[in-house]
Amino acid sequence: MSPTRLKDKCVAITGGASGIGAEGVLLFAREGARVVAIDRDRDALDAVVHQAPPGSVKAVVADLADPEAACAALAEAARLLGRLDVFWGNAGVVGPAGIEDLTLADYANAEAINLRANVLMAGEAVRLMRAASGGAMLFTSSISGLVGSRKSPVYAVTKHALLGLTRSLAIAHGAHGIRVNAICPGITETPMLPHAMGRGLDTQAMEKNKADHLAAIPLGRAAEASEIARAALWLVSDEASYVTGVALPVDGGYTCG
Ligand SMILES: NC(=O)c1ccc[n+]([C@@H]2O[C@H](COP(=O)([O-])OP(=O)(O)OC[C@H]3O[C@@H](n4cnc5c(N)ncnc54)[C@H](O)[C@@H]3O)[C@@H](O)[C@H]2O)c1
Repeated sequence: MSPTRLKDKCVAITGGASGIGAEGVLLFAREGARVVAIDRDRDALDAVVHQAPPGSVKAVVADLADPEAACAALAEAARLLGRLDVFWGNAGVVGPAGIEDLTLADYANAEAINLRANVLMAGEAVRLMRAASGGAMLFTSSISGLVGSRKSPVYAVTKHALLGLTRSLAIAHGAHGIRVNAICPGITETPMLPHAMGRGLDTQAMEKNKADHLAAIPLGRAAEASEIARAALWLVSDEASYVTGVALPVDGGYTCG
């Protein structure tokens, strides 16, 4: 029997060209959804579309740092799908290291992609979902949304703020049948990881940083992107029909300590 946890659901996922988002696009499509993957990387998006079951995934190329492009991308996704049942705001970038030498440009870039795009697209998603009498939203926060980050306070600021967005939308729109949740991944083997571990460090220091971090994880290893995608699948599926406003750590136990 083929898996059908998202049968006929219309889904838009940002950052769908790589890492956690790409795993999510492919998993959701295998579970019966029609998916639009939104990303700025056209070639990587095309590769994801080709790996998916035929006809299940479409691509929308957009730079989410541009607020108008972010809103237009979600409107285009809904047009391609015919409606929007699920929105997963997942795209993100590592923030600048430290705060002493922070430039306004570096701050603005991290904030624009990690936070502002999600806020603006959530507004568009609420309009679309209210018209359709409900839906599910999910945001990719981080363990840096739950605890502080020594390496990038700005990254932690954006990821904490996403939880404020999640909880606010959950209480405001539950009565309209819209569930809103967040996942908080721990360190996950994706193309982002070396950048996240290496902010401002040489290779040797980056490897030591990663080893120190792994030593603090009760399960003793980094996550695979597919493990994060499976948690996301549950949260947006009808199996989580009474779950809203939660920030789910998927971190091997890291934030227990
Ligand atoms: N990898 C980790 O250890 C980890 C841990 C916690 C949280 N996260 C979060 O998970 C999410 C996914 O990260 P990942 O690890 O899969 O990284 P990744 O780099 O593999 O994927 C991120 C995707 O976002 C896209 N993107 C970035 N900026 C964009 C922009 N301006 N416009 C459009 N698309 C843009 C990239 O092109 C890429 O496809 C991010 O929000 C990240 O902060 C990652």
